[in-house]
Amino acid sequence: MKIGIDQIGFYTPNKYVDMVDLAHARKQDPNKFLIGIGQETMTIADQTQDAVSMGINSTLRYLDQIDKDKVGLLIFGTESSVDQSKSASLFVKTALNLSPQVRTFEVKEACFGLTAGLMMARDYVYSHPDKTAIVIGSDIARYGVNSGGEVTQGAGSISILVKKDPQIMELNEGHSAYSEDINDFWRPNNSKLAKVDGKYSTQVYLDFFTKTFNQYKKEQKLATKDFDALIYHLPFTKMGLKANRLAVEGEEEETTQRLQDNFEASKKWSAKVGNIYTGSLYLSLLSLLENGNLTPGARIGLFSYGSGAMAEFFSGTLVEGYQSKLNKEADQALIDQRKKLSVAEYEEIFNNSLLDPEDSITLKSDEVKGKWYFAGTKNDIRQYSVN
Ligand code: COA
Repeated sequence: MKIGIDQIGFYTPNKYVDMVDLAHARKQDPNKFLIGIGQETMTIADQTQDAVSMGINSTLRYLDQIDKDKVGLLIFGTESSVDQSKSASLFVKTALNLSPQVRTFEVKEACFGLTAGLMMARDYVYSHPDKTAIVIGSDIARYGVNSGGEVTQGAGSISILVKKDPQIMELNEGHSAYSEDINDFWRPNNSKLAKVDGKYSTQVYLDFFTKTFNQYKKEQKLATKDFDALIYHLPFTKMGLKANRLAVEGEEEETTQRLQDNFEASKKWSAKVGNIYTGSLYLSLLSLLENGNLTPGARIGLFSYGSGAMAEFFSGTLVEGYQSKLNKEADQALIDQRKKLSVAEYEEIFNNSLLDPEDSITLKSDEVKGKWYFAGTKNDIRQYSVN
């Protein structure tokens, strides 16, 4: 049975900081941020956007094109949870008006959450071929004003519909997983900001990539040249570039060029949006499909990494007519329509977003019509509204 990605919805909030402005404010050479780290701008979420509202907004990008009655599973992957107990997916299910029969829950393993959901969704569709599954990854990457990781922040969500006979990409048989209990990046319960050992994290990411990629090729009897594109989880685009350099080492010119060109296409959206944790790999996929030139039948290798750490390499094959399921203009517009913040404005909005609003205060959002937002709490219960 052919199972895979039938729809991809993307959302990022409506404000950003330019890396050149940030570099000047932090007394750094802009080229360190633009070239050394590979980021151009980063989305900033104000207090009214959280994992839930962004997850609703990304799913709404395609909801009117699917049969809602067939959705039997809704999985929400995040490391920006809004509650220690209740799943973010329940708020989403209500906002989207999905059936009460839907099985729904939240999963967590750092940036691996959406991939974990995708694999469960694939298994679910195998056993329920007439049903579909929605898998959401939604996060705000926060390291803190003036921190080492500041330049790798971002916010956004990807929502995927998984079904039989998908219209974008079939998931191929097999996968290669690898995990180790390590401390490269984590966020303790008493902190809204992530802790990271950046250099160690990069080293583990590259090590896990080599392990899972080689294992996958061995098990599936494939060579690097058999992939039309390789895409990566991109906390910042330089990280993926380093992995791609390892992938093409010793390969022929044609393979090297093809994988480099497709990596360039895959990093375009992330360089502007920043790190969106769980959704990041799938933002690379969207960027590749919308900015690259792949033909149906192309084999794409995907490297998913969640700190802590869990990695998985798997692949997909593009389906005939996949281009018609994308909306590059709308995705580009979402990024282009963001309002540019000065560094001082960013700092204020960022620091405010770390505070929990006083209970019973109703928050207003400056998002466009039709976008959902967090409207504050009533008796400590989160409220979501739409503009
Ligand atoms: N022009 C071009 N490149 C420059 C430069 C300039 N003027 N100045 C510095 N660079 C390059 C450096 O050579 C380095 O490149 P390299 O990685 O290829 O060696 C890069 O810019 C970063 O410089 P570095 O000195 O290593 O930056 P840093 O110590 O301030 O670290 C981060 C910054 C973002 C790399 C680090 O904080 C980090 O890794 N953070 C997050 C990690 C993460 O997201 N992990 C999550 C889990 S996957």
